[in-house]
Amino acid sequence: MKVLVTGAGGQLGHDVVGACVSAGDDVVATGRAELDVTVRSDVAAAIAAIRPDVVFHCAAWTAVDDCESDPDRAFAANAEAVRWVREASALAGAHLVTISTDYVFDGTLERPYHERDTPNPRSVYGRSKLAGEGEAGPNATIVRTSWVCGEHGSNMVRTVLRLASEHDTLSFVDDQHGCPTFTADLAPMLRRLALERRTGIHHVTNQGAVSWYEFVRSIVAAIGKDPAMVRPIRTADLDPPRAAERPANGVLDNAVLREAGLPLLRDHRQPLAELVARIST
Ligand SMILES: NC(=O)c1ccc[n+]([C@@H]2O[C@H](COP(=O)([O-])OP(=O)(O)OC[C@H]3O[C@@H](n4cnc5c(N)ncnc54)[C@H](OP(=O)(O)O)[C@@H]3O)[C@@H](O)[C@H]2O)c1
Repeated sequence: MKVLVTGAGGQLGHDVVGACVSAGDDVVATGRAELDVTVRSDVAAAIAAIRPDVVFHCAAWTAVDDCESDPDRAFAANAEAVRWVREASALAGAHLVTISTDYVFDGTLERPYHERDTPNPRSVYGRSKLAGEGEAGPNATIVRTSWVCGEHGSNMVRTVLRLASEHDTLSFVDDQHGCPTFTADLAPMLRRLALERRTGIHHVTNQGAVSWYEFVRSIVAAIGKDPAMVRPIRTADLDPPRAAERPANGVLDNAVLREAGLPLLRDHRQPLAELVARIST
């Protein structure tokens, strides 16, 4: 199959390219320099020229706190761009796979969120990603994921590797929960959903819900340091507070995958160990 990957310079885009190349696909990988997805005419021209079977739209503005002060840029990158990709994909007969987030929820529910729960984003980023879901249309595969970690790009694993070498103690919040998700596992599942032309919203995360405090303890242990160096704090005690509100409960129930009889991604501690082994050697 011929595929186009947008945002190929990012964590997920990089590994989607890798998964498709490994599977023998004909892959066109575009980073921001090759294709700015906010430029409608460029998106139209690129997709018309490439004529892919599938577009994996991984480009997004993911600087959650910065989105608060520049909603126009957030909506251009995370919502309007999806419209440009969707309309060009439809003209080319390409299936669209686009990525969304647990931040579409307000995080107040006391159980994991399934795909039919009502979104209520509390941040500009979350609102822009929810608008992007709407722009994707009914024929797209929309994958909501959370706490993304990959080998290429910045994420909590890399941040903790650096912080743990610079400080004796680390403080992380113990009142925000989610499922860390590793791009090495997520990317092949995106390809499978595309191949099977599964439309609609799918929650796809690695399994094993934790707080940031618990996740950071696992990372510290995986790099061979004492997890006791990590201290729990509350979101209300963050100084300075973060510009964007995060959902206290960002745990996504992968209900649609389960109901379809598709395999769930494994517990996050396994890909965590593999990623730490790769990036610390
Ligand atoms: N990271 C997370 O924890 C997380 C959680 C849930 C869902 N998601 C979603 O998962 C997807 C992949 O995220 P990720 O973690 O791989 O993010 P990432 O590492 O920040 O990658 C996003 C890529 O998109 C590029 N990009 C931004 N604006 C663009 C534009 N106008 N045109 C073309 N490329 C552009 C970025 O380039 P620059 O670096 O040049 O800006 C970056 O390479 C996104 O849809 C994101 O919203 C992420």
